[in-house]
Amino acid sequence: MSTPNVRVFADLTALTAAAKQFLLEQATGAIAQRGQFTLALAGGNTPKPLYESLVSADTPWLQWHIFWGDERYVPLEHTDSNAGMAFQAWLNHVPIPKTQIHPMPTEDADPQIAADRYEQTLRQHFGLRNGEFPSFDLILLGMGSDGHTASLFPHTAALQVGDRLITVGNKDGQPRLTFTVPLINHARQILFLVTGANKQTALHHIFSSTGDPHLYPARLITGNTLWFLDQAAAEGVVDNA
Ligand code: 6PG
Repeated sequence: MSTPNVRVFADLTALTAAAKQFLLEQATGAIAQRGQFTLALAGGNTPKPLYESLVSADTPWLQWHIFWGDERYVPLEHTDSNAGMAFQAWLNHVPIPKTQIHPMPTEDADPQIAADRYEQTLRQHFGLRNGEFPSFDLILLGMGSDGHTASLFPHTAALQVGDRLITVGNKDGQPRLTFTVPLINHARQILFLVTGANKQTALHHIFSSTGDPHLYPARLITGNTLWFLDQAAAEGVVDNA
């Protein structure tokens, strides 16, 4: 991994404010150049304050197109639903047309069928030919203390998938839907939001030249990547942090 592009913030509040500004700048640029902003959301706890802060944003919502980078295989109403969280925190409160918000489907008995359906949704939206990967304007990612990102968990088959956009992740036997590594790496911009001292060990391995990507999957993300860390996560990992 080349030298990571890292910014360190005092705490979650400061990180959230900077992420909001960065995201809105990316939206303004994408809409000016391409008439639309394609954004893939992360789940977990860290991005929730960012989503809540976007309710008050002044931006042309009609040009926003929302997708998810991964999802727990539960209904939208379930408390573990990444999409459910984002709707409650933000999307139910802004005028993005519902036809431009694409939660991952979790109804099918077979998660592979759901993965295939979401892949078709992406192929249609981006007008892709076979074998092509879309370039999202921005993909938000988090990282677990085990170094997983999206639902790309250590030592799972999902890490090897190179010819699909969407695959089935596996968290302790529980199915997940997730963007594949090549889809993420095709993004115009990737932004990691990582907070908490329990992330230091994984970050150390991910930023070092010897980290094992099968043990720390976030290391497989080698595209145009920016890392926003809070002080607690960066301590002892990033110089002068
Ligand atoms: C998920 C996420 C996952 C998350 C990390 C970090 O569905 O759980 O997409 O990849 O980003 O687990 O989660 P926290 O932000 O809660 O630490």
